Amino acid sequence: MTKKIKFGVAGVGHIGSRHAQCIIDNNRADLLKLFDVLPLNKWRFDTSKKELLCSSFEDLINSDVDVVNICTPNYLHAQMAIEALQNYKHVVIEKPMALSSEDAEKIINTAQKVNKHVFCVMQNRFSPTMIWLKDVISKQLLGTINMVVVNCFWNRNKNYYLDSDWHGSRLKDGGPLFTQFSHFIDILYWLFGEIDYTSSQFFSFNQKKYVEFEDSGIVKLNFANKAIGVLNYSTAVWKQNFESSITILGACGSVKIGGQYMDKILDCEIDQYNRPHIDDDIACNDYGGYMGSASNHDKMIDNVVQVLLDEKSVHTNSFDGFHVVKIIESIYSSRN
Ligand SMILES: NC(=O)c1ccc[n+]([C@@H]2O[C@H](COP(=O)([O-])OP(=O)(O)OC[C@H]3O[C@@H](n4cnc5c(N)ncnc54)[C@H](O)[C@@H]3O)[C@@H](O)[C@H]2O)c1
Repeated sequence: MTKKIKFGVAGVGHIGSRHAQCIIDNNRADLLKLFDVLPLNKWRFDTSKKELLCSSFEDLINSDVDVVNICTPNYLHAQMAIEALQNYKHVVIEKPMALSSEDAEKIINTAQKVNKHVFCVMQNRFSPTMIWLKDVISKQLLGTINMVVVNCFWNRNKNYYLDSDWHGSRLKDGGPLFTQFSHFIDILYWLFGEIDYTSSQFFSFNQKKYVEFEDSGIVKLNFANKAIGVLNYSTAVWKQNFESSITILGACGSVKIGGQYMDKILDCEIDQYNRPHIDDDIACNDYGGYMGSASNHDKMIDNVVQVLLDEKSVHTNSFDGFHVVKIIESIYSSRN
């Protein structure tokens, strides 16, 4: 019989329910346990299989699962991941890995002590356009990278904040760079490596009353590889998500990826290179009231299974997760 990896999901909200479904859909994975603090009638997932339900997080991490998926609000990630690791479970941690680099480091140290894997969720890396871009950069087809501009213009409306007991809270959510745009910071780190932050400005155009942090910002970045970059972001866009794009200007070529979810090659001018056809028709997570990032969680679960059964390497590891937190922390260090 095929060996299967046993998963337990903690926090079965918008994204936890997606984890649970991807586990069910993977023929080498078993969904063994679920835990959420909500009363059963408020769950976003089928609760009819009583054998899946745990009465506490402790029950979940004491069960027979191999992997615990931490899909709770941001501020709980570090504490829950550490508890699961201390119970000798591998952990999948939704983004952001933690709300401070100190906490992210504690996760790394605990994982090393117990010799267990940490899988960070940064699923945009699985998008075909991003895989293509990584290949273009790795093969140095653009030559020396001079400038990078990332624009993330999204809509998160009043209901998004008022419907949640953690979105908009400085301590529980952390801010748009943690909750919405850490995906794009991860892409910058993945493509260009270390970033030395230089300067930033933050703005609140819309959400002053019910959000404890900025909704928009302009960040100037200096990369260790000498390229310069700008990240412009906003969650205060009228009506709906408008743009997520990255423009890269190199000595031998220029590329622009766009679409709502950085899923389309908009421009590609590279010396002696023909732009390939890429299947860029990827889905995004649709949460009803708002649209999220690329819906590649199936690929992330598959990576967990492949690491544990086929000895493949972890797609987005704890050091990647740590660096993203460190970059955000550095940008936010000038926030009031
Ligand atoms: N990778 C992505 O694209 C993506 C998308 C959305 C959310 N996320 C991340 O996933 C996490 C959850 O986000 P969401 O949108 O699903 O939020 P959510 O509010 O919809 O779900 C969180 C769930 O955790 C539960 N919870 C709270 N405290 C708990 C505890 N102590 N133990 C167990 N369950 C608890 C809540 O009841 C809720 O059901 C966040 O960290 C968020 O940043 C990632």
